[in-house]
Amino acid sequence: MLVARAIRPMLATAAMRRACTRTLCASPRVMRPTSQPTLSFDPSVKTAMDKQEPPAPGADFRVVIVGAGNINFGSDEGPWNHSFRLEHKLGPRLKVVALIDPDAERARRVLQTKCQSFVLSAYKDTVVYPTFKDYMASVCAETYPHAVWVGSPPAFRGGTEPGRNLEQLLTAGLPNVPLFIEKPVSTGAVDQTFEVAKMLERNGSLVSVGYMLRYLKVVQKMKQIIAENHLRVMAVNARYIMAYEYTAKLDWWDKSKNPGPIVEQATHFCDLARYFAGEVDLSTVMAQSLEHYEPAGQLSKIPVDESLIEPRNRIPRVTCATWKFESGAVGSLTHAVALQGTDYSTQIDVYADGYSMRLVDPYNAPMLYIRRPGDDHEEIVRYNDDDPFFSEVASLIDCIEHGEGTSPILSSYEDAARTYALTWAIREASERTMRPLP
Ligand SMILES: NC(=O)c1ccc[n+]([C@@H]2O[C@H](COP(=O)([O-])OP(=O)(O)OC[C@H]3O[C@@H](n4cnc5c(N)ncnc54)[C@H](O)[C@@H]3O)[C@@H](O)[C@H]2O)c1
Repeated sequence: MLVARAIRPMLATAAMRRACTRTLCASPRVMRPTSQPTLSFDPSVKTAMDKQEPPAPGADFRVVIVGAGNINFGSDEGPWNHSFRLEHKLGPRLKVVALIDPDAERARRVLQTKCQSFVLSAYKDTVVYPTFKDYMASVCAETYPHAVWVGSPPAFRGGTEPGRNLEQLLTAGLPNVPLFIEKPVSTGAVDQTFEVAKMLERNGSLVSVGYMLRYLKVVQKMKQIIAENHLRVMAVNARYIMAYEYTAKLDWWDKSKNPGPIVEQATHFCDLARYFAGEVDLSTVMAQSLEHYEPAGQLSKIPVDESLIEPRNRIPRVTCATWKFESGAVGSLTHAVALQGTDYSTQIDVYADGYSMRLVDPYNAPMLYIRRPGDDHEEIVRYNDDDPFFSEVASLIDCIEHGEGTSPILSSYEDAARTYALTWAIREASERTMRPLP
């Protein structure tokens, strides 16, 4: 039975702020690598959460979490839940010193759930702040973080204007504190994300962006095959068919509120395409879409009242894009809002001279089908207990604790900004070729 005192995720009070000494002790700067950052890892290493040594007791590892939503605290929609992975990586050392979210009720709710479980020690002193500014007004040596975990909506970050400039505030307020930042990096102007990337680079910030599919072992196996056989990728063909029946957030269906399914969702596959085949020549991007007002665009099970959204802001049902990589290779993407039920149908194919690598269902049960020279049959590769979210979280913590480069950070901010640019190029190309609204 829990004692009432234990459940006390707090709202910051003036008294608390006074109690806290204002002497800030910055975390020690993370050691920089002497060589190139690690951009891949051996897929045969044991990465599963339950195959790790249990986290040893030790000094507190203080984390500020930004956003009390699904990505940080989990939901029925998918396997994401960063706080769960942080708990398993850090064990009793984890101390979440602050949870920043304007929705205080939601923040208190998630903290209450945590405080009713065996992870109580990580959350019992967590203070809820509505904004980063409020947190900064009370931060002191005891609450100065070792890392900030950002899972707020992308509309509030990735830019240089007030209200969108979280990275600037973080860098100014907590210099040298490593950052985890969710994808997509923004919803605003692409140019600004590159400015943010430069600013973070100048500051020397260690940043990991949440393109977690890069951490899948099957993806690492594909990278290994490409590298070991000196392959030049000739084509990447990505297919992302989502199940829409239970996508019940009205804003998700509204392009004026959310940047749309390519920038928000297919971004993972645009990112993988770049990871396998290199940079895209953005001037070559072409795209077509199927829109809601066309006969083939009618959907029968949309779980929200789409009539509440201006017709011009309703999302496309299908987007098909093609482009050239700088190497000359060709890329293509089909994204469709088409399936009912819950499971998505997703696949990405990579072709090179003599090779075909088909990555099927990377979200749920990743399987890799490999055809090599000299054999017409496909070899099937899969890894049990792979958890790319855990690998992503664990890698950043290892870099903070043991020095950058000791574990792979597979998506830097600048790299993620390039993926963001590709997704906008696709969206804009499809909007240029849209049939006019009736
Ligand atoms: N990598 C993945 O597979 C994956 C999965 C889910 C979500 N995401 C990403 O995570 C991010 C958040 O998505 P979500 O599903 O958790 O959304 P959500 O709507 O469930 O939660 C967002 C939370 O952020 C809060 N918030 C709003 N403005 C804020 C601000 N300025 N500062 C701090 N908090 C603020 C909201 O009140 C809400 O509690 C998005 O960028 C999304 O694309 C990634």
